[in-house]
Amino acid sequence: AIDPEFEDTYTEVDRHDGHRVWTPDGEETTQEKQGIHGTHVAVDFDICLADGACLEDCPVDVFEWVDTPGHPESEIKADPAHEDQCIDCMLCVDVCPVDAIDVDPS
Ligand code: SF4
Ligand code: F3S
Ligand code: ZN
Repeated sequence: AIDPEFEDTYTEVDRHDGHRVWTPDGEETTQEKQGIHGTHVAVDFDICLADGACLEDCPVDVFEWVDTPGHPESEIKADPAHEDQCIDCMLCVDVCPVDAIDVDPS
């Protein structure tokens, strides 16, 4: 599962489409190690296997697919492209089968 303390244990290494990207070791992301995308709505790309329930169920369309060719779990990921629109319903956290998503209610 995603580390809920990632804001303390991970390092911000990049910004991408308006949100942060974090890795556990502070190293740049690679094809095989994509890190966590987002902050308020965070998706661990290295756990996401493209189930898609988060995209289907989010009432305000926070997520968009992005391509991650060569990643061992899946070659698309649910990117929290509109995390600023999140209404903290927690549905995505509940439906993800691999607990790849962490939402910090504000
Ligand atoms: Fe969407 Fe609700 Fe998840 Fe926020 S908590 S990203 S509103 S499903
Ligand atoms: Fe990925 Fe979980 Fe969504 S596996 S596509 S974050 S439901
Ligand atoms: Zn992203």
